[in-house]
Amino acid sequence: MNILTVKNGKELSDVASSHILKAVKDKPDLVLGIATGGTPSGTYQQLVEKVQLHSVDLSNIKTVNLDEYVGLARNHEESYWHYLHEHLYGPLGLSPDQALIPNGLNENLEKECVRYEKAIEKVGGVDLQILGVGRNGHIGFNEPGTPLDSKTHVVELTDSTRQANARFFDDPSEVPTRAITVGISTIMKSRSILLLASGKEKSDAVSALLSGKIDPQWPVTVLNQHPDVTLVVTEDAKAEEHEHAE
Ligand code: F6R
Repeated sequence: MNILTVKNGKELSDVASSHILKAVKDKPDLVLGIATGGTPSGTYQQLVEKVQLHSVDLSNIKTVNLDEYVGLARNHEESYWHYLHEHLYGPLGLSPDQALIPNGLNENLEKECVRYEKAIEKVGGVDLQILGVGRNGHIGFNEPGTPLDSKTHVVELTDSTRQANARFFDDPSEVPTRAITVGISTIMKSRSILLLASGKEKSDAVSALLSGKIDPQWPVTVLNQHPDVTLVVTEDAKAEEHEHAE
């Protein structure tokens, strides 16, 4: 694992956005896996600025979103569909057929999961997957205990995740209870991974990862088996002691 320790979120966004920009320059038809949440938002803002500054042609990239809440209307401010169109796909000028997002409004969610998994295969799989990490170690919305061979599936969000995400909603009761997420095995098929961790509330998850062990109770630790991971981590998210390993 390539570990880049940075001072703060701003530096994380700079390093991560440059990493993505380089990947697009190296492979203009890049398939980019997108995470949502608070951590990558500065990265996406800087990416938009850098793409505009360097006039990078994105007409051949595809994006594949990791997850989406079940039951939130597309125009709901906190749906990932809305967030990404507003802050990333719109400013980058991507057309709708370039950006895949699971449909959390599909009446048949099981069918939607199968459709999405096939759609990822159809674009040739993900070249570079951006990941955040939950304070409980989830990646995508693969909560602790998710089978490591899972594909795209519907999840019940844990209380920890719903509480963490309540900050984005007017009322905590509005946080959806379910989501569709790309599974762990699908994430592991990505050819490279850019994992972002910022803030001391992520230090348990980061220390579990850095213990080098694989523990399904800390899904992020599966990345220890992936051959090409870059971790960009702020100083406060990288605990000195790896207590979790004990
Ligand atoms: C969101 C996602 C989640 C987040 C994680 C961290 O698409 O996949 O795994 O990356 O919940 O969220 P933040 O960045 O808000 O702390």
